[in-house]
Amino acid sequence: MLSSLKKQPADRIIGLSAMYNADPRDTKIDLGVGVYKDAGGNTPIMRAIKTAEQRLWNDETTKTYTALIGDGGFHNAMADLILADSVDRSRVSYCATPGGTGAVHHVLELVKMTGTDATVWFSDPTWGNHLSIAKHVGVPVEKYGYFDADTRAVDFDKMIADLGRVSAGDVVVLHGCCHNPTGANLNETQWGLVADLLLEKGAVPFIDIAYQGFGDGLQEDAFGTRLLAGKFPEMFIAASCSKNFGIYRERCGLIMAISADGDASAITQGNLAYVNRQNFSFPPDHGARLVTMVLTDPELRADWEAELEDVRLGMLKARQGLADALRAECGSDRFGFLADHRGMFSRVGATEAQVDQLREEHGIYMVFDSRLNIAGVTEDKIETIAKAIIAVGI
Ligand code: LMR
Repeated sequence: MLSSLKKQPADRIIGLSAMYNADPRDTKIDLGVGVYKDAGGNTPIMRAIKTAEQRLWNDETTKTYTALIGDGGFHNAMADLILADSVDRSRVSYCATPGGTGAVHHVLELVKMTGTDATVWFSDPTWGNHLSIAKHVGVPVEKYGYFDADTRAVDFDKMIADLGRVSAGDVVVLHGCCHNPTGANLNETQWGLVADLLLEKGAVPFIDIAYQGFGDGLQEDAFGTRLLAGKFPEMFIAASCSKNFGIYRERCGLIMAISADGDASAITQGNLAYVNRQNFSFPPDHGARLVTMVLTDPELRADWEAELEDVRLGMLKARQGLADALRAECGSDRFGFLADHRGMFSRVGATEAQVDQLREEHGIYMVFDSRLNIAGVTEDKIETIAKAIIAVGI
């Protein structure tokens, strides 16, 4: 039986990490997978998370099941963080999931379960796993233009033109902030225009928010999500706690689904519980519990926000540093977009051959589409990276 299975393509981001780990060169530089690294190249456990873990170890008295949709305290704390008061909470249903990826998967499964044959629209480009999960779940997919390869900014005219082809009931996936892989983001005016267009079309927005706090700040990064939540009768949100709480391996994510009213929300809620039950029953609890503790304890919360802000400012500094170093190398401002982008990623705009050359000749690992993880651009490596980028002819 197993011999009938077809070979699956390796995930290109995760595959790159394996290549990096196997590379014996001690000069190698990892700008691949979206994991935060400090100046020493380590992915630290955030202070507030560590303290919460210590408290939990002392205070937790049982490991019995929570609920199929996870713990209510986690839902409320996350809704406060992401939605604030943008929407009447009686219209919101919740489902804790294994990571943001689990949330994306379940939302697409729910879309499929509606039996509406809704097309799911993704930005071109988007996180590769979005498309892969959509294919796996079996929902029809379309792409809308998003990125201008010349300016490395959002191609807003193309985006609006393409979204003009959306049909009523279609689902439109938008990155809440810190677009992955490009780093180019909508401004507030553009969010408003997208909202107006999608409302007119009768589309259902689906916000994937995985980097809140990495872009312009915790509140600022939730702007688009809150704006849309306040306007649309129906909407999905998939949130990840992997990055902004640094709990990658705990697999902690959340779906928030906004329904037209409280009655519809009760049905959605039941369907979300069903989806968890059919896939794996109860969601992981450890990460969700830590996040809840951090968000609801004033002292832990303040410490988490302070550390997150340091991370964000560090990445902004790295952006400016690399843009400046590239200006010094090439004598022009053509890499200025690096300082304008936000979040963990920027698409530099190199060919796959140039990306291969960077890896093979310079030991610099970027994702094949020339996405670089700015957190890997530590001060001691800026010059090396800038010189290599110019050396391969980008
Ligand atoms: C990334 O885009 O690198 C991260 O979201 C990690 C992943 O799972 O791909």
